Amino acid sequence: MNRIDPPQRSLLGPGPSDVAPSVLRALAAPTLGHLDPRTLDMMRELAEMLRAIFETKNPCTLAVSGTGTSGMETALVNLIEPGDRVLVAVHGYFGARLAEIAQRVGGDVTVVEQEWGQPSDPAKLRAAAAGRKFKVLAAVHAETSTGVKQELAPLSAVAEELGALFVVDAVTSLGCTPVGVDRARIDVVYSCSQKGLSCTSGLSPVSFSPRAMEAIARRKQRVASFYLDIALLERYWHGDHLYHHTACSNLFAALHEATRLVLEEGLEARFARHARLSKALVAGLEGLGLELLVPAHQRLPQLLAVKIPDGVDDLAVRKALLAQYSIEIGGGLGALKGKIWRIGLMGSGATPRNVLLAVSALASVLGSHGFRPRSEALAAAGAALAS
Ligand SMILES: Cc1ncc(COP(=O)(O)O)c(C=O)c1O
Repeated sequence: MNRIDPPQRSLLGPGPSDVAPSVLRALAAPTLGHLDPRTLDMMRELAEMLRAIFETKNPCTLAVSGTGTSGMETALVNLIEPGDRVLVAVHGYFGARLAEIAQRVGGDVTVVEQEWGQPSDPAKLRAAAAGRKFKVLAAVHAETSTGVKQELAPLSAVAEELGALFVVDAVTSLGCTPVGVDRARIDVVYSCSQKGLSCTSGLSPVSFSPRAMEAIARRKQRVASFYLDIALLERYWHGDHLYHHTACSNLFAALHEATRLVLEEGLEARFARHARLSKALVAGLEGLGLELLVPAHQRLPQLLAVKIPDGVDDLAVRKALLAQYSIEIGGGLGALKGKIWRIGLMGSGATPRNVLLAVSALASVLGSHGFRPRSEALAAAGAALAS
C-alpha cells in the first residue's frame, strides 16, 4: 500500500475551508487522554473562547464530538419529547434536515416552506402557528444550499410570541458573520469546526441557554440519545468530568488553536474581512458575466451561489477546476443541483489571493467549457493563466 499524501487544495466550496498551518500543527501534537488534566484545561479554555465567538454567557457551551449534524441532533434530541409541537422554517436543504430530525425524535412538526433562494418570512411562520403554542422554533441562520442569510431578530420575536425555545443552525455563519447568541435571544445554537472557524471537521460547538437547560431538566422522558445527552456532556466538560466518551484531545487542540486565531483577529475585523473580500469576489464573478442567485441584501458574504450559465456542464467545470488548479468549489444541492455553483470564502480561506485565484481559474476553465467570459481585468488574468 502506498502512502496517501493528500494534495494541497484551495478549498473554496461550502466547507470544509482551508485550515491554517498552526491548526494542523496543533492537530499533530501528542495525543492526551480524555481525562488528562491538560485536556481538561484545554476544554475549559476552548469553552471560554467558544462563548466569546458565539457572544454568549451560557455556562453550557462546549464542543460535541461529531460534525455539524451532531450539533443539530444534540439540539433537537434534548429539547423535543414525543408529541411536542415544533415549528421549522425551511428555505433550503439544511432547514429540511432540521425538520426531518425533529420528526425522527418524535416532534409534532409543522414545516413552513419558503422558496429556495429567499429567507423565511416571519409572517408565514405566525400564520402557520395559528395562535397555538410551540415547544421549539428552529431555523437555519446561513442556508448553505442557497447562500441566503436569515435575519434572526424577527424569528426570535416569533419564538417569543409562541412561547417557543429558539434553535438556530449557525453551521455556516459562526466565525464569518455575527451570530450574537445572547443579542438574538437564541436558546440553543450549534455550529461546526470546519467552516468559519477553519479547523478540520469533527467537532460541533453548541451552546444551551439556562432557559433551555431548565426545560430539559423538566422533561418527562429521558433523552433518547446517550451520546448526545447535553446534561451528560455538560457534566464531562464543566462538572466533575465523569467519563462519558473518549473525546479526541488532538481535535480539541486544533479547535483551541482555531478559536484562538479567531479571537486574536477580533470578531469585528473578521466579519469585515469576509464582507470586503466577498464584495471583491462578486465584482470578479459579475465581471466574468456570471449571475448570482441571491440579491445583495440577503446574500451571505462567506458563501456565494452562482448561477451556472445555460449550456455549461456543472460537473465538467468543477472537475477541471480541481484537476487544473486544485480548487474545490461546490455544486448545488436538491432542487438547485446542476443549476448553481457554491463558492465559499470562509475563515482562513477568505484571502485576496483566493479571490483572484477563483476568478482567474473560473475565467480560464469557463473559456474551454462553452462560455465566453467577458474580458474584464480579472478575466484577462484567467485567460493569461490558461495560455
Ligand atoms: C447549514 C448547515 N447545517 C448543517 C450542516 C451539517 O454539517 P456536517 O456536514 O458538518 O454534519 C451543514 C453542512 O454543510 C450546513 O451547511
